[in-house]
Amino acid sequence: MEQTYVMVKPDGVQRGLVGDVISRIEKRGLKIVALRMNVIAEATAKEHYGEHAARPFFPSLIEFITSGPSVSMVVAGKDAVKVMRAVNGATNPVEAAPGTIRGDFALDVGRNIVHASDSPEAAAREIAIHFKDSEIGKYSRVDEVCLYE
Ligand code: RTP
Ligand code: MG
Repeated sequence: MEQTYVMVKPDGVQRGLVGDVISRIEKRGLKIVALRMNVIAEATAKEHYGEHAARPFFPSLIEFITSGPSVSMVVAGKDAVKVMRAVNGATNPVEAAPGTIRGDFALDVGRNIVHASDSPEAAAREIAIHFKDSEIGKYSRVDEVCLYE
């Protein structure tokens, strides 16, 4: 099963949307195999968003993502990377379709509630930044027999 890294950012935590995000992931049929709430360290945030280091929004992005607790998850399932990007919606919530997390709950690109890895390679890199192998659970959902052909 493909894995991806998902984060409920500090705005999602402070707005009480953790349960809603998790509920959408679970109801879609994806499986949460690791989960933690913590304040991400500055060095970890800079490594996570390293691809954006030269962008003008990088300092404010790092300041925001380390400003309070966030919820980190490893999410597994068929095409988990692509499916989670679709569940989250477009980066700019103004462009995000209704029915997506960003399209239902957000307005500002710098306060877009959730993160998900944008490729399987990024997912492997990000999972290794945020979790040890021993923190990733191995179990079957009882409904996998219905979810998968
Ligand atoms: P994320 O990495 O957070 O899941 O978001 P994403 O892939 O949809 O978007 P990405 O291009 O990776 O941007 C990372 C985060 O940086 C902030 N951002 N601000 N002001 C701006 O033009 C701008 N562009 C991006 C957003 O919070 C975005 O989620
Ligand atoms: Mg991104």
